[in-house]
Amino acid sequence: MYKIFNTAGEASEYTARRLLNQIRLNPRASLGFATGSTMEPVYRFLVKCLKRDPLDLSQLTTFNLDEYIGLSRGHAQSYRYYMQHHLFNKLSIPEDKVNLPDGKATDVSRACHAYSEAIEAVGGLDFQLLGIGSNGHIGFNEPYTCFFSRTHVVELSEQTRLDNGRFFANKKDVPTQAITMGIQDILDAKEIVLLATGSKKAAVMADLYRSAADVALPASALKQHGNVTFVLDREAASLL
Ligand code: GLP
Repeated sequence: MYKIFNTAGEASEYTARRLLNQIRLNPRASLGFATGSTMEPVYRFLVKCLKRDPLDLSQLTTFNLDEYIGLSRGHAQSYRYYMQHHLFNKLSIPEDKVNLPDGKATDVSRACHAYSEAIEAVGGLDFQLLGIGSNGHIGFNEPYTCFFSRTHVVELSEQTRLDNGRFFANKKDVPTQAITMGIQDILDAKEIVLLATGSKKAAVMADLYRSAADVALPASALKQHGNVTFVLDREAASLL
């Protein structure tokens, strides 16, 4: 299903409301969170609503999609830092219920395996929030990632390092590798909402709209899922 809104603000509020509904309906839900600038207004709105109308968050479990390898949790560009700053420091989700891949793990392949197992142990994700990279990546699943993949290490593409370079002082500071939940972990979620806003996402959303499931465009794996909502603002939808 496609939902197209006039502004990024409206698209973000709709996305945040979908998350709130999920929590209201199921206070024990397992939620998959995403990072990136697209998600910032979603988290702002979510926090605002929860301050106004508090919900019990103590039984939630959260899993983030991905993390850079080599950045510590205190590094300002790590996704752990992003999540603490935009969401977790502002909400009362117990710390032991919050999961992110560990970018400093000594045994990375073991950590990847354990991450997918932890998701399975809670019965899979009830809700997965997604953004999209300009090359169609979801999480950090770059083009040609196997659709059956579980949490794994990725070499970041030049395009992704270039796109994400805007958050780092120097392009050379952008990590070359990351840990990401696999496409199969994402597809196992019961409900998925992908949010894309702004004209920079127009081309990839047009490709995605037209494409069949194709490993060259990782987000097209979502076409095999029965409960996905693509939420766009007018700019991101301008080439559909
Ligand atoms: C990163 C993240 C993705 C995110 C993408 C888009 O690469 N790994 O999960 O969807 O950025 O980010 P933005 O919203 O900043 O365009």
